[in-house]
Amino acid sequence: MKRMIVAPSMLSADFAHLSKDIDLVNANADIIHLDIMDGVFVPNISYGTPLVETICKGATIPVEAHLMIVEPQKFFELYRNLGVGSISVHYEACNHLDRTVKRIKELGMKAGVAINPHTNVNLLEDIVRISDYILIMSVNPGYGGQKYIPYCTEKIAELKKIIERNNPECLIEVDGGVTVDNIEEIANAGADVVVAGSAVFRAKDPAQAIKILQGVL
Ligand code: DX5
Ligand code: ZN
Repeated sequence: MKRMIVAPSMLSADFAHLSKDIDLVNANADIIHLDIMDGVFVPNISYGTPLVETICKGATIPVEAHLMIVEPQKFFELYRNLGVGSISVHYEACNHLDRTVKRIKELGMKAGVAINPHTNVNLLEDIVRISDYILIMSVNPGYGGQKYIPYCTEKIAELKKIIERNNPECLIEVDGGVTVDNIEEIANAGADVVVAGSAVFRAKDPAQAIKILQGVL
C-alpha cells in the first residue's frame, strides 16, 4: 500500500483528557481534523471556538477544519487567526463555491471542497481546477462511528479521473467509516488522505492504528 496521509478526527477524542489525545496525534499522525457542526447543515452540534483554539494551541502538526455548517465564510478569518491551515466547505452548503474557495486561499489557507455521499463527483469537474483537495464523505455527516458506505469507493476512482484531467495536484480525502480493514481498498481507489475517528481513538493501540492506516506497518 502507498503511504497515506492520516488525519485523526478529534470528534472521537477523550475530551476529559484532551491534551493526552492531542499529544498522541502530534506524535503519530499527519494532520489534526476538526469537525465543525452547526445543527443546521447536519443534525448535530460538535464544538465551538474555545475548543478549536485549545486544539490549535496544542497542535504541532497542521490543523484542518471540516465545516459542516451553513454560511461557512463567516468563520474563515477567525479560524485562520487561531492557526487552522486548511478549510473544507461543503458543496451542498455554498451557493457561490468559486468565490468561497478563492476566499479561503486569499487568506493563506488550503481550500477543500467536501461532498455528501449522494453528491455526484461529476459536479466537481470545474471546481477541482482551483481546489487543493476534495473531501468525499463516506458516511452521512453528523456523527462519528458510522459504517463506510461501499459505493464511495467507486466515487473515489471516478474523482481520481476527473482530477487527473483537470488538476493533478488536487488531493482526495476520504472521511467516514475508515478502518484498518478497508484502508487498502480506499487507498487503491485513489485516496491520498484519510480521516479516522473511531478507528484511531477506539483502538487498543491508537499509535499502531495510525501506522496501519498510513501504510507504514
Ligand atoms: C462525520 C465527520 C467525520 C467523522 C469520522 O460527520 O465528518 O470526520 O467524525 O469519524 P469515524 O472515523 O468514526 O467515521
Ligand atoms: Zn470530517
